[in-house]
Amino acid sequence: MSQTCTLRLNSSPADLDQAAALLRAGALVAFPTETVYGLGGDARQGEAVAAIYTAKGRPSFNPLIAHVADIETAQKLVEWSDIAEKLARAFWPGPLTMVLPLRAGHGVSGLVTAGLSTLAVRVPAHPTAQQLLHRVGGPVAAPSANPSGRISPTTAEHVMAGLKGRIAAVVDDGACGVGVESTIVGIDADQVVLLRPGGLAVEEIETLLGQPILTRDAKAKLTAPGQMLSHYAPNASVRLNAETAKDGELFLGFGAYDGDLNLSPNGDLAEAAANLFDYLHQLDARHLPIAVAPIPELGLGLAINDRLRRAAAPRD
Ligand code: TXA
Ligand code: MG
Repeated sequence: MSQTCTLRLNSSPADLDQAAALLRAGALVAFPTETVYGLGGDARQGEAVAAIYTAKGRPSFNPLIAHVADIETAQKLVEWSDIAEKLARAFWPGPLTMVLPLRAGHGVSGLVTAGLSTLAVRVPAHPTAQQLLHRVGGPVAAPSANPSGRISPTTAEHVMAGLKGRIAAVVDDGACGVGVESTIVGIDADQVVLLRPGGLAVEEIETLLGQPILTRDAKAKLTAPGQMLSHYAPNASVRLNAETAKDGELFLGFGAYDGDLNLSPNGDLAEAAANLFDYLHQLDARHLPIAVAPIPELGLGLAINDRLRRAAAPRD
């Protein structure tokens, strides 16, 4: 791959104009969302989307999320339904991705969906992402802005550490507030299926719908493809549900289980989610095995434990 000098832009109007112009010209631009930094490319340009896969070293069968500025733009891409409307009105803009059937004339490259007949769409809440997407006007495909399989980026520094020289620019607007990727749901007739736990707690969706949402196992046919078990992986090994560190291990604490770093001394799961990837990046830089305290399996704890299990999974 040819070497590019990666520009560092900020959230000023002039820099966002430049970022949007780069995207429209088919270049790759990383930008902040409220969940993690995304690696954006114009979803309608096959070459731009192909370049995303190359920059990340991502297997081409794993489809991408199309980011749009608002509900109206989303409705041009996918078949809308009553449930989609209800979820979008309640949770967009925000950390929710919906997988819906593609609509005729959508214009999105088949590389975004990896050939599926559905598209994952999301309207991010981050003001900088909003301003950028409004300027682009159309869908921007954006996986997390990290090399495939590595820890997701929640700062522009994380993006640069993984992708410098492989992308045209990064828009730096500080740390991401939510810190874990969006919650992904599939919608099939009147059923909502959880495809990936994330930054929107499942309980909030269930409260809105007044019914439990199905998990992936219950609905295998809607499985998010390419969710490799080993993912979000630091260089060092990761051991979960540890009450203390063993000799030579670093300890990532939570609540009363204190350690080298503590995800949230008060046991606040939202704070823990926001710190998760940054703390993994920090501990990983010390090149020692990492032990992690138990995290409760509720609210954002589902997303945190999902990412930690992948970080701890056996590697290829
Ligand atoms: O918070 C987020 O969602 C971040 C930020 C940048 O928006 N993006 C993100 O994208 O996490 P990515 O590419 O790392 O994860 C997309 C996930 C993948 O697991 C993929 O399998 C699933 O979405 N996905 C995409 N299109 C799908 C489809 N049509 N059907 C089922 N799953 C799909
Ligand atoms: Mg990712």
